[in-house]
Amino acid sequence: MSLPQKVEQIQREALQQIDQADSLQSLNDLRVSYLGRKGSVTAILKSLRELSLEERKVVGAAANKCRAAIEQQLKQAQQRLAAGQESAGLDPTLPGTAQRIGTVHIVNQVIDEMCATFYGMGFEIAYGPDVETDYYNFEALNFPLDHPARDMQDTLFVEGGRLMRTHTTPVQIRELEKRKPPIKVIMPGRCFRNEAISTRAHISFHQVDGFLLDEGVTMADLKGALVAFCRSFFGEGLRLQFRPSYFPFTEPSAEVDIQCFLCRGEGCQLCKHSGWLEVLGCGMIDPAVLEKTGHDPERYTGYAFGIGVERIAMLKYRIDDIRLLFNSNVRFLRQFE
Ligand code: DAH
Repeated sequence: MSLPQKVEQIQREALQQIDQADSLQSLNDLRVSYLGRKGSVTAILKSLRELSLEERKVVGAAANKCRAAIEQQLKQAQQRLAAGQESAGLDPTLPGTAQRIGTVHIVNQVIDEMCATFYGMGFEIAYGPDVETDYYNFEALNFPLDHPARDMQDTLFVEGGRLMRTHTTPVQIRELEKRKPPIKVIMPGRCFRNEAISTRAHISFHQVDGFLLDEGVTMADLKGALVAFCRSFFGEGLRLQFRPSYFPFTEPSAEVDIQCFLCRGEGCQLCKHSGWLEVLGCGMIDPAVLEKTGHDPERYTGYAFGIGVERIAMLKYRIDDIRLLFNSNVRFLRQFE
């Protein structure tokens, strides 16, 4: 094979290989093997010196043409491959696409915070079923069948005489039945009531109940625990007010107001100019409840409380419509990421 023929063959081979290259890396390898310092085209150009003037002209021209053709082909192939990478979304120079992985719902964030605070005060955490018997939801809690207190807690009744629990207090009965004092637990969970849905009421909501049963427990222990919780949740130095109230399963019973954390008691829109915000119900466990669950009320006393999760979440984060907490509007929920 004459030298010009050889040059022609190298060119044909090179152009074909460049055409078939499927990556920028293999293009670069081809460039090195033909045009690099030890490349085959370079070798021919180097060998020109040893040729006669006549031959040098012919072979030199062919070799230069060959080099130019390979260079041209490499450039085109490079553009083709780079464009292909871009359209496959593989341009590594572009910024990455962030993946949203979601967040814990604000209601569950509040429940988690409450659990962490009470856990730090020595409370264990207990759960009970959403579908309850009449016994646990009402009767054992001292709501007799004809008691008017039942009217405030109408709910959905399911087959077999069971019902969707109206509060988390039935878990208190379940724990009292299972355990011996000292018992110190909080009980978070979902509750249901037959309510007209409005900005402040919903048919489904959450509560965190808690109680302590032991020898010598007094209302002072109750106040200490609730003051500590409310200050940790709403702000240090906050004042609390205990107002007499009624629950069938506590005696005496109280409702707790916190000093409005926005105006510090001065009076503002949030507290409707009263200076106080109602946050929870509580009391000393009624001896009748202890008797029903097999504890001696002469020996043991206990306190109990129930906190509405949505209510305190709405106060703390100034949410003016409870429905926002249930309609899964991502634009609303993202504020609490
Ligand atoms: N279960 C009551 C309710 O839903 C709240 C409550 C009040 C719970 C006093 C308690 C308590 O444990 O001691 O209205």
